[in-house]
Amino acid sequence: MLVKVVLIEIICLQSPVGYFLFAVLGCLAMDAASMSSQRRPFSVKLWPPSKKTRLMLVERIMKNLTSESIFTNKYGRLSQEEAEETAKRIEDEAFATASQHYEKEPDGDGGSAVQLYAKECSKLVVEVLKEGPKRKEVTLPVENGVDATRETLFDISKGQRAFIEAEEAEELLKPLKDLTNAYTKICFSNRSFGLGAARVAEPILLSLKDKLKEVDLSDFIAGRPEAEALEVMNIFSAALEGSVLKSLNLSNNALGEKGVRAFGSLLKSQSQLEELYLMNDGISEEAARAVSELIPSTEKLKVLHFHNNMTGNEGALPIAEVVKRSPLLEDFRCSSTRIGSDGGIALAEALGNCVHLRKLDLRDNMFGVEGGVALSKALSKHSDLTEVYLSYLNLEDEGGIAIANVFKETAPSLEVLELAGNDITAEAASSLAACVASKESLAKLNLSENELKDEGTICVAKALEEGHDKLEEVDFNTNSIRRAGARFLAQIVVQKPGFKLLNINGNFISEEGVDEVNNIFKKCPEMLASLDENDPDGGDEDDEEERENGDDGDELESKLKNLDVGEED
Ligand SMILES: *[C@@H]1O[C@H](CO)[C@@H](O)[C@H](O)[C@H]1NC(C)=O
Ligand SMILES: *[C@@H]1O[C@H](CO)[C@@H](O)[C@H](O)[C@H]1NC(C)=O
Ligand SMILES: *[C@@H]1O[C@H](CO)[C@@H](O)[C@H](O)[C@H]1NC(C)=O
Ligand SMILES: *[C@@H]1O[C@H](CO)[C@@H](O)[C@H](O)[C@H]1NC(C)=O
Ligand SMILES: *[C@@H]1O[C@H](CO)[C@@H](O)[C@H](O)[C@H]1NC(C)=O
Repeated sequence: MLVKVVLIEIICLQSPVGYFLFAVLGCLAMDAASMSSQRRPFSVKLWPPSKKTRLMLVERIMKNLTSESIFTNKYGRLSQEEAEETAKRIEDEAFATASQHYEKEPDGDGGSAVQLYAKECSKLVVEVLKEGPKRKEVTLPVENGVDATRETLFDISKGQRAFIEAEEAEELLKPLKDLTNAYTKICFSNRSFGLGAARVAEPILLSLKDKLKEVDLSDFIAGRPEAEALEVMNIFSAALEGSVLKSLNLSNNALGEKGVRAFGSLLKSQSQLEELYLMNDGISEEAARAVSELIPSTEKLKVLHFHNNMTGNEGALPIAEVVKRSPLLEDFRCSSTRIGSDGGIALAEALGNCVHLRKLDLRDNMFGVEGGVALSKALSKHSDLTEVYLSYLNLEDEGGIAIANVFKETAPSLEVLELAGNDITAEAASSLAACVASKESLAKLNLSENELKDEGTICVAKALEEGHDKLEEVDFNTNSIRRAGARFLAQIVVQKPGFKLLNINGNFISEEGVDEVNNIFKKCPEMLASLDENDPDGGDEDDEEERENGDDGDELESKLKNLDVGEED
């Protein structure tokens, strides 16, 4: 017997399989030794291995899965958690295969079953290592900076956008019931849960909630009657209460106040939340108040998104409260929420504390000049800003100038500046130009739907002339630009190495001007947006007069040639 054991050891140590067989046999020998010392009749059976042996093998597989190998560089390493679960699964499968083999062909002591057991383990380990961590699409830098592991996503949103009832939920959510799964992120978006399906999900979420880090319940009750939708939300909220989430997406659920409160127990229990999305949720004044009330702890919050229907100024106040309590905020969106100038001022003041802000999107509100000026004052310490979306805020020249002046001094890494639809005229152009001139990282400049005309356009375009090699998109559509402005801007942007898109549609460029612009983009017509809404005969009376005087902008251009648009000092 012992001879046989030793022989198998020697044969197998020369192959990868031996690595595991050696472990099994070592344990088996210990089993045998303890048996014989108990003076049992000396008839050692190698199969089945004892519990201890099996556990020890699981341990060994786990070590193997988490250690460096030729595969880890290529595919990433498994997390401890995933390795533990996978090791159990592998051992289980190998044990089942070997047991079957032993039943079919009992060979006395079970030596061949042991060999198969080790071989199966080895095979499955190599398979897992080759596959890498279960989810490859999301690569996150890992906490504590130790190494790069991968998050694991369970996503049912990719199929049909449809109702889901109990039966289908049973089937679809099955993988979550397997306790060896390593899901830390679930996305139930795009399926509309009824009560039946919610009750199927409930125990699953309960069993999973300690592991979950990211939960996407956006658009998950569409078309359900209000009472049912509220109950469904209550079930999900209660099931996930006490989870320690980093990210929660409740967008596209038309929550309103009742809906926000239906998520009360979940929201209240969160203390580590970093990202909260409440887009298209009908966040009314009351709903906004509920949000502020229900998420008392926002110390960690980095991303907060609202969009659509927060009724006006009153609703802005509780949102401002949340912002004020979120000193780490990096990405704030509150767009199309009907906030007027009082709300805008409150929000601006709150944002003053958020000096880590990188991305700010306040598009489509009614801040007006006062809101814009308040915002400019509030953002003076925000040197991390990279993306700023301030379109359709009624800023006018005064607000636009205030904003341009503050960004001239801060935000050295600004990549996106959007100020579309703000009634900004050539009056503000020199401030805008001075701001833009200092932004070497600028990739997108969007001043569409203003009144810059040729004069303002040329002034800002000149600021882009030097450097600005990262420039990709420039949008000056609908600015009453004519031939001179269009041509000048086109000539400057077309030379940028990474340029992608110039939009000067909706202006008053003459036929000749259109030809010239097309000619400038002759080699790269895809970089010039359509000019189908250009009106060669457009323009107001002054323009008409100029036209009649034979001034198609050319003279204006020469007048502007020597305009100083650098840093004014
Ligand atoms: C893990 O197991 C495989 C397959 O048996 C083997 O080739 C490899 O050397 C082992 N790696 C480590 C680090 O033990
Ligand atoms: C939702 O469903 C629609 C239609 O079935 C599909 O086209 C879309 O890609 C899905 N959305 C997501 C986010 O997967
Ligand atoms: C949140 O959900 C909405 C709607 O399904 C989706 O468009 C958006 O990408 C999601 N946001 C994140 C950060 O996943
Ligand atoms: C937003 O308000 C409009 C008009 O008040 C309403 O028709 C629409 O359904 C609301 N949208 C949401 C997402 O609540
Ligand atoms: C410019 O901003 C407006 C308003 O946000 C937007 O609709 C448009 O698509 C933007 N243009 C580009 C090129 O991104």
